[in-house]
Amino acid sequence: MKVLFVAAESAPFIKTGGLGDVIGSLPKALKNKGIDARVVLPLYSKIDKKKYNIKFVKYIYVSLGWKNIYCGIFKTEYKGVKYYFIDNEQYFNRNSVYGQFDDAERFAFFSKASIMIMPHIEFKADIINVNDWHTAMSIIYLDKLKKDNDSYYIDMKSVLSIHNIEFQGKYDKYLLGDVFGLGNEYLNVLTFGDCLNLMKGGIQLADRVNTVSETYSKEILNSFFSFGLDPILNIENHKIRGIVNGIDYEIFDPEEDQSIYKRYNKKSINDKYKNKLALQKELCLEENIEIPLIGMVTRLTDQKGIGLITEVAEQILNMGTQLVILGTGDPKYEEQLRHMENMRHDRMRSIIMFSNQMSSKIYAAADLYIMPSKSEPCGLSQLIAMRYGTIPVVHRVGGLRDTVEPFNIENGTGCGFTFESFNAYDMLDAIKRALDVFYYEKKAWKLLINNAMSYNSKWEKSAKKYIEMYKEIL
Ligand code: GLC
Repeated sequence: MKVLFVAAESAPFIKTGGLGDVIGSLPKALKNKGIDARVVLPLYSKIDKKKYNIKFVKYIYVSLGWKNIYCGIFKTEYKGVKYYFIDNEQYFNRNSVYGQFDDAERFAFFSKASIMIMPHIEFKADIINVNDWHTAMSIIYLDKLKKDNDSYYIDMKSVLSIHNIEFQGKYDKYLLGDVFGLGNEYLNVLTFGDCLNLMKGGIQLADRVNTVSETYSKEILNSFFSFGLDPILNIENHKIRGIVNGIDYEIFDPEEDQSIYKRYNKKSINDKYKNKLALQKELCLEENIEIPLIGMVTRLTDQKGIGLITEVAEQILNMGTQLVILGTGDPKYEEQLRHMENMRHDRMRSIIMFSNQMSSKIYAAADLYIMPSKSEPCGLSQLIAMRYGTIPVVHRVGGLRDTVEPFNIENGTGCGFTFESFNAYDMLDAIKRALDVFYYEKKAWKLLINNAMSYNSKWEKSAKKYIEMYKEIL
């Protein structure tokens, strides 16, 4: 079976968030199960061609509306997976991946080019698996090729993976012909409300739609989580699946991680505390393993629930904790966090930047990892935290619900602490429950760490489910 992943980002070449992690690891897992999974990405100027040995293959022209556009095709192989890159400097020589004034056109071009290159790279996919709104247009262009009876594409199927329903790609209707080069026969399918909505068009025409956790696939049928799309999702419900993400065990591995102070595993858990002392020292916090250290690595946005933290930070610290938060995002939250650090320099650090190295250090050093997301399609940080023996405290939604089983001290099961409603005081209560075990139930705490580190978030199980989904439509 041949599957072409079309995505706006993929680790290690270019990554802004969880989507990049997934595209950097799921194809490899599918490959291990005998699927010929390949990936196509935009060739952003930030991608290091030399480092990854990315080589020019050939160029073609892709028509988009009234334009005929240069499309260079590049290629490399990384850890056994073949990656293709679409080159066009006008679109991809920019200072950021998203947020450009012409994103609609950039990603429509990329989406179309990704399927047009197939005959030229001699890879005829059985299925294209597109990801989020950026590449949803591939499904529309594939549909158009089929309608035009193009024999090459006629049997090709499509899957749309939704990593976050919040971002849908909403644009003015005039783009339909001028920019996307589509006729009025696509107006209905792409229109939602009073604008074009690329995610909605993709959902409607895809053979299957999947979200990145089981719970999220149900939640988005509800207006609280759907950002308006629940009427469409309810109509298309029969083709929606939920498959939880895994993480790359080679990258997120406390035994191999070169960024942390002291590498460790389940059996050498005392070395985890060396990481804690070292981070406390680096950040000029009191060096003391008895003080519970709470970590958080996140985009500073409403969705991630950072507002709950700022609301009760004082109370969290007054329970005797240290708090270290790493991330960038909404300037309002950046400002609040800086202010909090100034007020409580004795116990709190706000590190306003993006750093893979610092995030590893926090995962390794912290006792608790807090994730109060308002909604969470899957969430990878809680999985990484668990692998590093750091106990997650999470709002029980989406993928957090599916992956963090609440600790049950009676029978010793579970690996985290959860709270049910999106409320700062419920979160505080969950932290308090965690701290009660940390302070007073030393044996149970050890067991908890062991449970967390034994949790299986390898891709294997989920890769199987992707294959089942693919088989359903072939
Ligand atoms: C998005 C979601 C996150 C998910 C990731 C990868 O970033 O917000 O929950 O884990 O995509 O699927």
